Amino acid sequence: MALPNGETVPALGQGTWQMAERASRRQEEIAALRLGLDLAMTLIDTAEMYGEGRAEELIAEAIAGRRDEVFLVTKAYPHNADRQRLIAACERSLRRLGTDRIDLYLLHWRGSVPLAETVEGFEALKQAGKIRHWGVSNFDTADMEELAAMPGGANCATNQVLYNLSHRGSEYDLLPWLAARRMPLMAYSPMEQGRLARTSALAEIARKHGVTPYGVALAWVLRRDDVIAIPKASTEEHLRENRKAADLRLDEEDLAVIDRAFPPPSRKGPLAMD
Ligand SMILES: NC(=O)c1ccc[n+]([C@@H]2O[C@H](COP(=O)([O-])OP(=O)(O)OC[C@H]3O[C@@H](n4cnc5c(N)ncnc54)[C@H](OP(=O)(O)O)[C@@H]3O)[C@@H](O)[C@H]2O)c1
Repeated sequence: MALPNGETVPALGQGTWQMAERASRRQEEIAALRLGLDLAMTLIDTAEMYGEGRAEELIAEAIAGRRDEVFLVTKAYPHNADRQRLIAACERSLRRLGTDRIDLYLLHWRGSVPLAETVEGFEALKQAGKIRHWGVSNFDTADMEELAAMPGGANCATNQVLYNLSHRGSEYDLLPWLAARRMPLMAYSPMEQGRLARTSALAEIARKHGVTPYGVALAWVLRRDDVIAIPKASTEEHLRENRKAADLRLDEEDLAVIDRAFPPPSRKGPLAMD
């Protein structure tokens, strides 16, 4: 998977929302992230919001000694998105992550800070070598248009949005807009946060390929070559299953069955958010 500047990143990464929330699961979560790295899922997504910094600290522990293998993504709160606060928030994330650079720094969602100020902050951080790329999250097509039109706005590397079988709205105009600019979409909650609809369609396709319905859901998100998926998994079994899904190619018949069970959008709707 290529970013707009040509740098390649893994199409299958790892999410970390709700990690570092229970001390009893900490070691399991760290082991899962490390296993993910072993399985080449080296893009790790987090945010200053997750556990108010505790997820970033957990990642620091998980990637200790392996920083160079990882493509590290974190996000700033919208209330930290003016130039000065963004720089300070980035410094705090760097400290918690135990690193000197963030590979991709995202605005978590759009707030009241003018976008131009956020872009200025991102560009300043890039100049200073604190971040390597920047992007946005939960931006609909009109937000992307506005961003692209401002100075520096075209340097945006990705837009991270909710995209899964039950939330296909971005296929209507956002995905084509991004594709025209060779900007990958980063799909969050690709497996519906573990609450996948139990349909016979998915069960049948899963049986046919010898995977679980979750594997099918993830393989479906990854069927496009312009989408990066960041499932969160904290057990070895889930991680291995997810890795397997990245190699699964759904055929035309599978895709047609899925389209009947989870129809693509026929008109523009508001971008779904988590
Ligand atoms: N930008 C944003 O606004 C935004 C919003 C939401 C999420 N995100 C990012 O996207 C990441 C992924 O989204 P998500 O965590 O909301 O949802 P998700 O990845 O769709 O689902 C995670 C849930 O699915 C379970 N799971 C994982 N693999 C499985 C498998 N093979 N079979 C059955 N269950 C499985 C996990 O359980 P275990 O943990 O027990 O393995 C967990 O409960 C987040 O972690 C976060 O990094 C971003």
